[in-house]
Amino acid sequence: MRLVIVGSGIAGLSAAIRAREGGVDDVVVITRDRHGGSSWRAQGGIAVPIDDSDVKAHVNDTLVAGRYLNDEGVVWSYIGLARDVLNWLIRHGFEPCRGRSLEGGHSRARVVRARIGGDRIGEAVMSVLTRVSEEVGAQVIEGRLDSIEVNNNRVVGITLDDGDFIKADAVVLATGGYAGLYLYSTNDGDGSGIETAMRAGALVRDLEFVQFHPTVAMLNGDLFLISEAVRGEGARLVNKDGEYFMRRYDERAELAPRDVVSRAVYNELVRTGGVYLDVSPIKDFEEKFPAISSFLRAHGLRPGKDLIPVVPAAHYAIGGIAVDALGRTSVRGLFAIGEASSSLFHGANRLASNSLLEALVQGYLVIRAFKAYYSGGAWRYPVIGRYDVVVHTRCRLASYVDMGRVRDVLWRYVGIVRSEDGLRRAIDELEGSLLPSLITKAAMIRRESVGVHYRVDYPSWSGTKFHILFRCGDEA
Ligand code: SIN
Repeated sequence: MRLVIVGSGIAGLSAAIRAREGGVDDVVVITRDRHGGSSWRAQGGIAVPIDDSDVKAHVNDTLVAGRYLNDEGVVWSYIGLARDVLNWLIRHGFEPCRGRSLEGGHSRARVVRARIGGDRIGEAVMSVLTRVSEEVGAQVIEGRLDSIEVNNNRVVGITLDDGDFIKADAVVLATGGYAGLYLYSTNDGDGSGIETAMRAGALVRDLEFVQFHPTVAMLNGDLFLISEAVRGEGARLVNKDGEYFMRRYDERAELAPRDVVSRAVYNELVRTGGVYLDVSPIKDFEEKFPAISSFLRAHGLRPGKDLIPVVPAAHYAIGGIAVDALGRTSVRGLFAIGEASSSLFHGANRLASNSLLEALVQGYLVIRAFKAYYSGGAWRYPVIGRYDVVVHTRCRLASYVDMGRVRDVLWRYVGIVRSEDGLRRAIDELEGSLLPSLITKAAMIRRESVGVHYRVDYPSWSGTKFHILFRCGDEA
């Protein structure tokens, strides 16, 4: 029984370990770079209910942030498993911080951070998962995915870009998202795994929902995420005129959900020419945020004292390969998990620190689904909702794409604030570049504003819950 997992981030490695623990004898992890990828850089933490009484509140916070475009069943099930996956991680050597942290959109301080390294949650979790995946005997092959091989709508293996074919009983894509396609981004995801899945017949969903992180330091051209936990500890946003402006936008101020804060920072940047984080209210800043502190020091700022200039940057792809709760795509034997997937856990806006939770839970659930598929062929396709829009698109690719231009166009016209004119322009410019042009088309089709998708020409929500899906095929 061979399972091939493409991607070696938190989702991919936890699936690999779960597979070996669950008796899958042959587990192969394909990675471009085992020390690379966005998981290593994750800050913040893992959102986990504090106790039984907090499950409902965590579900509610996730739905409110997601503007109820989430699948409520998925939300209950992932959050219901949160404490189990955290305990599994702890059994494997992860050391959580004693207290919990507060982040935007959470009604309680429930974010679990790492005991050592504080703001280096990604490093802490990835070190554990990398060590354990070696201990349990998951085989790692360095290579790049070229195509997913399908026979009779059933996955039979993958081909790498050097032409090697790797046979598989099933394939799990854990290749990350596509926020790295934007000019300014905290994320490495280039969406190539998602495009490959589309070419194998998979449906993709919610591509227009790209989350922008409101506070990314930009110093001498270097970008560095300033974790939401910094605002959770009391940091405040101030504009160039010296005004603490967040209350003007939302009564939850600095701890409003990320889409609200990102748009406010964007507006104030345009209006006054600068936005800064005032971290002076935080005691022991350096101890709590060592990674951020060393970045600031390297750029001549005094951590905990100097104002930090911040901008919003693309951070996380909410959309991705359409899956059901267990990671099953619309192609039998093809699973997708982590940021590559669209499970509808996040809705129209992801709640802070819910992404690591999703990756760990899906890493567990996908192996249950794989075993059921392997032993009895059980499969369930992601559901297409009554009001969903399914677009068939020709998946032609141009022979050459100027990625610098793509990044610039997405940032300029398909960013935090969108309009029909800008999107039309982007569509013309992005011809031949599959995922970027689909992100733009989805943003064009959604003539409303909801969660992270904001259209100046349609500033309110239509009130209808729907998702936009694409699949390769002849255009209607
Ligand atoms: C942060 O700490 O602000 C990032 C964590 C996340 O993306 O949820």
